[in-house]
Amino acid sequence: MTLVKINDLHKSYTTGGEITHVLKGTDLRMKKGEMIMVMGPSGSGKTTLLNLLGGIDGSDSGVLVVDGLDLTKLGKKELNRFRRERVGFIFQFYNLIPTLTAIENVELGLESILGNSKEMRARSRKYLELVGLSDKARNYPQELSGGQQQRVAIARALAKEPALILADEPTGNIDEEREESIMGIMKELQHQLGITFLIVSHNTRLKRYMDRTLILRHGKLHEGS
Ligand SMILES: Nc1ncnc2c1ncn2[C@@H]1O[C@H](COP(=O)(O)OP(=O)(O)OP(=O)(O)O)[C@@H](O)[C@H]1O
Ligand SMILES: [Mg+2]
Repeated sequence: MTLVKINDLHKSYTTGGEITHVLKGTDLRMKKGEMIMVMGPSGSGKTTLLNLLGGIDGSDSGVLVVDGLDLTKLGKKELNRFRRERVGFIFQFYNLIPTLTAIENVELGLESILGNSKEMRARSRKYLELVGLSDKARNYPQELSGGQQQRVAIARALAKEPALILADEPTGNIDEEREESIMGIMKELQHQLGITFLIVSHNTRLKRYMDRTLILRHGKLHEGS
């Protein structure tokens, strides 16, 4: 089954009259349960691609289908719902809510997926434990190190157990040992739950966990080595 279908996708930004063409006819097909890494130079459009796939930003033209939904045809409300229920984001700069504790940050993403607060708490605990942060559940983001904040962001995305996880440099602030354990957890979820992962990273160590590695260059995805 195909989970992601992108054909001839275009995206440009206009700032102060200047147009930047970022994606110029990008193609991508991902099978359900696949784990793919996207590499590419800074500014090549990796985050842009994730934002389009997650329904955070709109494309200019092209085909963009995720989990059977044509994102280019969805209204605001439907896009919100898609984002909340089907996608887990691990953002490049974490995007944690500073006024919520670690466990509350994880729970926040579960409101529209799980029925009650007991389930939400249990699920959040489970994933905080998996990323090794049980003892920091009641701490606020500013009381955590960068790597710990990143792990909260990872727990938040995984806890949703969504169809698709979009990760932007998910281990950028995490030491090698912890990186191995986190990637192990992601592989397990990939195999047990059939979660599809698109992981953007400059880290070549992550290659060994991937089904495929692609390079984004000049607005298009190319097969990597
Ligand atoms: N909201 C925006 N408005 C205007 N230009 C933008 C916007 N977002 C991104 N861009 C531009 O689009 C290009 C691609 O940016 P993007 O963030 O996708 O790159 P990236 O591959 O993720 O880079 P990095 O590896 O540094 O994170 C850049 O030239 C950037 O300046
Ligand atoms: Mg980026």
